[in-house]
Amino acid sequence: MLNDHQSEAARQGFDVDVDGLRFAVDLLAASRGAGRRPSDGSLKALPFPDLLPEDGIGERAALGALAGPILSDAARLGDPGFLAHMDPPTPWVSWAAAMWGARLNQNLLHPDTSPAARPLERLVVDWLSPFFGMDGGHLVPGSSVANLTALWVARDLRGVREVVCSEMAHLSIRKAAKILGLDFRTVPADELHRMDTAALGDISRSAVVVTAGTVAAGALDPLAGVAGARWLHVDAAWGGPLRLSASHSHLLDGVETADSVSVSAHKWLFQPKESAMILFRDSAAAHEAVSFGGGYLSVPNVGVLGSHGSSALPLVATLLTWGRRGVAQRIDHCMSMAQELTERIAAEPGLELHSRHQTGVVLWRPRGADSRAIRDRLRRSFVSLSEVRGTLWLRSVAANPMASPNDVVDDVLEAIG
Ligand SMILES: Cc1ncc(COP(=O)(O)O)c(C=O)c1O
Repeated sequence: MLNDHQSEAARQGFDVDVDGLRFAVDLLAASRGAGRRPSDGSLKALPFPDLLPEDGIGERAALGALAGPILSDAARLGDPGFLAHMDPPTPWVSWAAAMWGARLNQNLLHPDTSPAARPLERLVVDWLSPFFGMDGGHLVPGSSVANLTALWVARDLRGVREVVCSEMAHLSIRKAAKILGLDFRTVPADELHRMDTAALGDISRSAVVVTAGTVAAGALDPLAGVAGARWLHVDAAWGGPLRLSASHSHLLDGVETADSVSVSAHKWLFQPKESAMILFRDSAAAHEAVSFGGGYLSVPNVGVLGSHGSSALPLVATLLTWGRRGVAQRIDHCMSMAQELTERIAAEPGLELHSRHQTGVVLWRPRGADSRAIRDRLRRSFVSLSEVRGTLWLRSVAANPMASPNDVVDDVLEAIG
């Protein structure tokens, strides 16, 4: 039998504490200007004990202790100088919705305790599927899982024996083939990193993976060039959201002929991780192939995940806030920024452009200088690095609508000296 003191101690921290949450938000707001220059990526020793502390220090002390190393040292993805990875800044409405999700802790596996979470996932999948000519699907934590799910369905529904993709495809394709025990083959890509579809060979027993926005250069494999595959999967982890833009949707024309499509919402839909989706042309048949029942489950468990939370909540909050037009506006702006960056680089004699950007990913480098050394010398900005065919390039992904391409180029020129 618990005494009152034990019961009280056990209850502590579970109620909504508005002042406590405000304290957390204040810490977040106060850290805004700090950490402008991202860390060098080296592992830092955290100022915490090596062993699990016997006694806790309480919520505010814990958050206060974490605020320094976590908030201040973090790269500011929305900083004007940040033109680097595929990770975007996230809108505050998505933070709020993610907090609600953490509080409710609903499990998509249990409709009885999460009556709204499942319809919300269905809703957002129904909103987005038509842009890709798909009829449904489900949310997953990332496109690595989306790609694995697609190829699992391809194997079990169509008897696919082999996975074929371009040499520039994301590593998750090779990984999925390995997990699924499928043969794996790559075909060469051209100088713009697009798959050479003429080299596909016999694909009658293969799942062909076409990438809409390669990880290194944002290249678009020619969708029209693939015919006769047993399964066609489009990895649109990065480029997928272009379908929501009236001016850029055509870049992915042909995607509607695919059997499945992966899209990462935590890239160009500006979502907090982990948020992505796998969509299918015939989602009923696809889901049937990867569904498992269990005595304690009132609905089948579909796909790779077991328990999972409602990543639909921040996504729906964002899409309701912005509408399709609002998403398109931000993506169009990012595409214009990439164009501005491309033109500026092309006009600078000290800089070399790899190629014209296709989906907002720009590869560039200083002429006659080491890319890494220049990157390490940047003072006001941050770009990523990408080794392509033995050469190291600076890589700028236009995922940050607040970025200032000219300032980034100025900083690089200054670093070159
Ligand atoms: C083309 C492509 N496919 C798949 C992935 C994997 O996606 P995620 O990191 O969401 O698992 C990435 C990640 O950058 C990607 O660029």
